[in-house]
Amino acid sequence: MRFSWLLFAIGFLSFAWPVVSAPILAIDYGTEWTKAALIKAGIPLELVLTRDTRRKEQSAVAFKGDERLFGVDAANLATRLPSHSIRNVKELLDVSGLNSKLVQKYLGNNPALQLQENEESVSGVSFVVSDSDSYTLEEIIAMTMEHYINLAEEMAQEPINDLVLTVPPHFNELQRFVLLDAARLLNKDVLALIDDGLSVALEYSLSRSFSEEPAHHIIYDAGSGSISATLVAIDAVPKGTSGKGKNITRIRSLASSTTLDLTGNELNRRIVNFMKDAFQQKHNIDLSHNNRALARLEKEALRVKHVLSANSEAYASIEELAEGIDFRLKITRSVFESLCQDLATSAVLLIKETLLKGNVSLETLDSVILHGGTSRVPFIQAAIDDYVKSDKVSKKVNADEASVKGAAFYGASLTSSFRVKPVIVQGAVYNFYSLTLTNMHPLVALPESTLFGSSHIVAINTTDLGAHPSLPVSNGGTLIGEISINNLTEALKQADSCSEKQVLFEFSSDPLKGTFIPVRSYVACEQKSASASGIGGKVKSLFSNNQPGKLNEEALELQSLDFTYRRYRKLSEDSLQLFSDRLALRSLKDKSKALHESALNEYESLLYRAQSLSDDDEVLTYANPEESKTLKQIAVEDIDWLLQDGPTAETNIIVAKQKKLADIIYSISYRQDESHKFNFSLESLNSTVEKAESLLSSFDVPPYPLTEYDEKDVKRVTSIRNASYKKLSEEYDNVTAWLNDNLEKHVSRAKYEDPVMITSEMDSKTKKLQNLLYEYLRRSLQHPKLKPKTKAPSSSSEATSTSEKADQETAKPSEGFTESHSEPTSTAAFESTAGTSTSTADNDNDFEDEL
Ligand SMILES: *[C@@H]1O[C@H](CO)[C@@H](O)[C@H](O)[C@H]1NC(C)=O
Ligand SMILES: *[C@@H]1O[C@H](CO)[C@@H](O)[C@H](O)[C@H]1NC(C)=O
Ligand SMILES: *[C@@H]1O[C@H](CO)[C@@H](O)[C@H](O)[C@H]1NC(C)=O
Ligand SMILES: *[C@@H]1O[C@H](CO)[C@@H](O)[C@H](O)[C@H]1NC(C)=O
Ligand SMILES: *[C@@H]1O[C@H](CO)[C@@H](O)[C@H](O)[C@H]1NC(C)=O
Ligand SMILES: *[C@@H]1O[C@H](CO)[C@@H](O)[C@H](O)[C@H]1NC(C)=O
Ligand SMILES: *[C@@H]1O[C@H](CO)[C@@H](O)[C@H](O)[C@H]1NC(C)=O
Ligand SMILES: *[C@@H]1O[C@H](CO)[C@@H](O)[C@H](O)[C@H]1NC(C)=O
Repeated sequence: MRFSWLLFAIGFLSFAWPVVSAPILAIDYGTEWTKAALIKAGIPLELVLTRDTRRKEQSAVAFKGDERLFGVDAANLATRLPSHSIRNVKELLDVSGLNSKLVQKYLGNNPALQLQENEESVSGVSFVVSDSDSYTLEEIIAMTMEHYINLAEEMAQEPINDLVLTVPPHFNELQRFVLLDAARLLNKDVLALIDDGLSVALEYSLSRSFSEEPAHHIIYDAGSGSISATLVAIDAVPKGTSGKGKNITRIRSLASSTTLDLTGNELNRRIVNFMKDAFQQKHNIDLSHNNRALARLEKEALRVKHVLSANSEAYASIEELAEGIDFRLKITRSVFESLCQDLATSAVLLIKETLLKGNVSLETLDSVILHGGTSRVPFIQAAIDDYVKSDKVSKKVNADEASVKGAAFYGASLTSSFRVKPVIVQGAVYNFYSLTLTNMHPLVALPESTLFGSSHIVAINTTDLGAHPSLPVSNGGTLIGEISINNLTEALKQADSCSEKQVLFEFSSDPLKGTFIPVRSYVACEQKSASASGIGGKVKSLFSNNQPGKLNEEALELQSLDFTYRRYRKLSEDSLQLFSDRLALRSLKDKSKALHESALNEYESLLYRAQSLSDDDEVLTYANPEESKTLKQIAVEDIDWLLQDGPTAETNIIVAKQKKLADIIYSISYRQDESHKFNFSLESLNSTVEKAESLLSSFDVPPYPLTEYDEKDVKRVTSIRNASYKKLSEEYDNVTAWLNDNLEKHVSRAKYEDPVMITSEMDSKTKKLQNLLYEYLRRSLQHPKLKPKTKAPSSSSEATSTSEKADQETAKPSEGFTESHSEPTSTAAFESTAGTSTSTADNDNDFEDEL
């Protein structure tokens, strides 16, 4: 029996890497802000810019009548229509139903929004966006992703199919799946979910080199919805197994702590409450149930927070906040800090806790790398500086963009189609997985801090399993699914003779996404002949120090088991299809709406052009009576039509109308344009014809007495000249015939009729005639060779030797001038003797090329 599977026990599972040649989009979908970075062959990694060229945008979707808004537009709508602007959705990823605590908290913070029960969604809830419409959590998230995918596709000029998404390290199985499902709704592949901490560390590592001694860094990632401190180890490991050659940077996640309470959003809420209380105190008006006022306070709080990051005081100001009363309040930094002192304490606590979990002391820690908007808040920075000593606090990464850029780079490193520095990135489980059997303590299936892709093996006493065992799986204490062993009874029967039997389970997680994977299961059997210590003891000793090699293979027999793993809360195929279709429909609607609007806009501007043309008498002389009438009519009538019926008219009707009008305008402009160019083109043609005529009529062949000239060459030169003459003369005949046929027709037609002679055609005739003319002129200046005067070698043999020498000459430079001393003399001799014949030969070649 083979035991090779056990070698995987601690090693890194070698899952197949996806092979991609297309662009990759990394999306950092945050609670408040979303950023995206595009990586595409041939262009550097780039942040995806929004339509108004921002580098980040609110993670908001809003619904206004038929219209769907994203980002800043969606967030801004909150101050007017707070119930239609959906934000902070990331806080809801693992809710289960309307009554869950998380939903209640969310509704407390977003009182204007309306959620309803929805059984199709894994979350159990959907957002009510109008009387007739509601969208599930998955759909809302997919919409934000799609918005960025559309922007990125415009930038990449090609479709994007592959995504890398960043997630906070603490994200559990369900939260990971909701994001994966959202991408599935859009038919996009997610190459990896990378922890924020790791992607920041990766971005940090790119410009640095590391040794085999691991460097330890804490990524303090302070966002709006969560703040986490992640301890990573960065070292260099040899590439491949040979140990030779280049080293690869390896980044491992060792420990992580997170808070969901003392976050960036909490900072805002405290400022909002402070302002709300101040307003109530002064004016005795309670704003707690005034959603519009609350939304406006929220927007102002964000601004105040930013101002206080750089200034010691800020002035909040909102006009007509409620009942026509303006709101004004000075908030000093010290007041702000006193409101949020516990957040500073919590920041330090997170770092302490993470160091403790990772068993790394503050002294050996290399640095704390700050990331996330909230890390810019001065008093939080000061608290961290104070604890870790400021020289260890690194602000060297871009606090907004490092994570998304690291993620894009990671995506590129996963495929073979980008030439990037290779890296090994290993996330870790921060919500441990366990098996909860009824009559025993929970068994840890994957302990906290297990690296993604690493296996963990547990042994289960068969007597605890019962006859039809199903093992409930929990993640971070929440039931997420169950494993059913299908042929345990048969396997146990076969293992009847064993003195000890245990069920072994090997668990792992997806190395790229961190989701749970039960890998395989066996019944382990110890024969009676084996040593007395018993299998339990062996199995325990085997796994306690993570040394699978110590297994006493002879003493064990492994009987593989058939099992199935079922996740409880999984998006059904039906829901997937339904949501996917609904999203596609919604996008189609948006797209056709955009098309409709641009058709209206284009037609409108064309109508204004038509209007000004129909007032221009000079222009109208180029329009035939019918066109003239139609132009005037449309210009007047369709402006009204556009205003009244345009908005409801079908797009293709608008496009057809636009085309009809555009055709008329084109015909008129074409005639006018041709007419303006005609005189010039005719003059050019005419003068060229006249020149050709005079040249042709003066044709004569000068006498080349054969007593003086080389006979062969006389024949050659005159025949070339005759051929050239013939060509010119033919073309001249053609052009004059064409002019005779058309000029009269052209000038006598009405101005509003299409031209008979088109200027582009005339110009090309001019050009052709001109070329033939110049060619003939050149030919007629060429004369035959004279007869040689002395009895030197014949001219033909001289030419041959010349060309041979010329060949040698051109080949010379590559051989080097210094090689021979006799060469220069012979070259000089060649130049002096062959001077005249060389120039003739050159000219002859020229002729033959052109003939
Ligand atoms: C790779 O790392 C080893 C130590 O782990 C070191 O000796 C070697 O010089 C490194 N090689 C390169 C190319 O950096
Ligand atoms: C923590 O680290 C120290 C030294 O680095 C080591 O001696 C100790 O065994 C470690 N403790 C645990 C629980 O790993
Ligand atoms: C249980 O099922 C697995 C997978 O189908 C199979 O390999 C194994 O032989 C089965 N064991 C028994 C005892 O039937
Ligand atoms: C399995 O459980 C039974 C009952 O709890 C116990 O008697 C037995 O010793 C256990 N076997 C091992 C190997 O732990
Ligand atoms: C073209 O030439 C004719 C006569 O040669 C003249 O009447 C006419 O105004 C000219 N047209 C333009 C556009 O210059
Ligand atoms: C074109 O040339 C002819 C003579 O070849 C002349 O009679 C005529 O006026 C010329 N027309 C123009 C527009 O130059
Ligand atoms: C070239 O044309 C002239 C005049 O038409 C004629 O006398 C002569 O024979 C022609 N020469 C050749 C080589 O065609
Ligand atoms: C002259 O016109 C005729 C008929 O249009 C055409 O067949 C012939 O090729 C033209 N000749 C030249 C030299 O373009």
